[in-house]
Amino acid sequence: MHPLHDIALIDALGADLRSAGYTGPGVAAFLGEDAEEALGRGIWWPALHATKQAGPSRLGTLVRLLLLACDESVREVAEALPGCLIDDLVANEVITVDGLTARAALDIRPHADDNRDYLVVSDLDAATRTGPVLRDHVLGIGGASMSLARAVIREPVASALDLGTGCGIQALHMDSHCERIVATDTNPRALALAAATARLCGMSWDLRAGSLFEPVAGERFDLIVSNPPFVVGSGGQDYIYRDSGMAGDRVCERLIGEVADHLNPGGTAQILANWIVREGEPWDTRVRGWLARTGLDAWVVQRELADPISYVSLWLSDAGENPGDLMRRGADWLDWFRREQIAGIGMGLITLRAHRAGETREPDQVVEEITAAGEEVTGYEAKAFLDRRAYLRDTSDEHLLAARLSTAPVIFEQQSLPGDDGWQQVGASVRRPGGPAAVLGVDEVSAALLAGCRGVVPLGTLIELLAGFHGVDTDALAEAALPVIREAIGRGILYEAR
Ligand SMILES: C[S@@+](CC[C@H](N)C(=O)[O-])C[C@H]1O[C@@H](n2cnc3c(N)ncnc32)[C@H](O)[C@@H]1O
Repeated sequence: MHPLHDIALIDALGADLRSAGYTGPGVAAFLGEDAEEALGRGIWWPALHATKQAGPSRLGTLVRLLLLACDESVREVAEALPGCLIDDLVANEVITVDGLTARAALDIRPHADDNRDYLVVSDLDAATRTGPVLRDHVLGIGGASMSLARAVIREPVASALDLGTGCGIQALHMDSHCERIVATDTNPRALALAAATARLCGMSWDLRAGSLFEPVAGERFDLIVSNPPFVVGSGGQDYIYRDSGMAGDRVCERLIGEVADHLNPGGTAQILANWIVREGEPWDTRVRGWLARTGLDAWVVQRELADPISYVSLWLSDAGENPGDLMRRGADWLDWFRREQIAGIGMGLITLRAHRAGETREPDQVVEEITAAGEEVTGYEAKAFLDRRAYLRDTSDEHLLAARLSTAPVIFEQQSLPGDDGWQQVGASVRRPGGPAAVLGVDEVSAALLAGCRGVVPLGTLIELLAGFHGVDTDALAEAALPVIREAIGRGILYEAR
């Protein structure tokens, strides 16, 4: 029997949680800003203190039971969830009971985002359970889940696929803009918890069991989103949520290789991935190889390049592995990396877009490293990036020279070094704050040209004026300036004022 198999219990639980104020805003107001923020960073005691200070309440009991994994008395749990029978909660694996004490057996938490409020069901993580997580552990809302959710382009579409849905966090976010959602997983426990998440949130997804694209053979979608089990290892499957059972980065290679067959014309796929970087090879060799066979437009952003020890340590602690086993398990993993000549593991986001119907051209694929904090890919930026690439492809130099261009909100930065005569300028750049890699090195002439782009004078005229001022040939200046202008448009620093 799966957890939360009883729909009537899920409905009663949802009603009780909401009536007690166990919602995103409700819990935030109850705990206070500081304690809530600390809890988000894994510091639990201020939240516990806040619940004790508030005195007895249904919400206090629920926060301690479900968010803080505390032992609570069975009587108080029964009072906090008056519509549910304790026996049903136990039979549905919501809680365990030992004598007069109840303890959460699942993680059920409010999740507020996009001005919406959700309830999400997953397994207790390594910090809140005793011992390592189980093989069929269902991952809760983690950093990777949220970075993908924030990167997804939130345009209204008819059909969407969440491949490897886990607790359903991606499908949940897709519900606001996708008419029909198929969510898949190989782990039956994940499908049960995703079904409970959907039910608690009043949503309905088509949940299907199976690996990769097997459950959607022959089907196409407008949007495909996946946070797959991308962890690079020798091919074992200790934990389904992170190990695909395929050696190396094969799971990501297969996903990228097969995704084009499941996208509608103009459709988008956004996939979190890890890729192997072998000794002596540029970091982008493998990922470029995967893309070359897709025929899709692509924007790949490597956010981090992890060395083997950091990578293995990260994943050993993620599962809360037994400290006694850590050294042996880590050493075996590192040995395999060494045998495979793996120097590092790239981690990032792959955004892919299928050509529109009737479009015949070479795919446009950008692969780059953007590691700075504050330059994460958001859905807004991903869409804007693809739109700008399409604009650049469709726009001739003649059109650009006749266009009135404007600068986005940007800042001009100068880099200087101290010298004998004071500060010596060594470089300058124009930056669009918050834009991923939205920075352009400029010289005096290109800086002046960008400053002149106020949406009033055509680019060609600005170039003529500048050429006259500097006493250089207009055509030569245009030829030198156009690549800079294109780069600035591609980075969202310049745009055509219409
Ligand atoms: C890293 S978790 C992501 C969960 C959730 N989508 C998120 O964003 O947090 C990967 C999910 O993929 C599932 N999975 C593992 N192998 C799979 C496969 N071959 N095909 C589809 N899903 C798989 C796991 O059970 C797990 O739920």
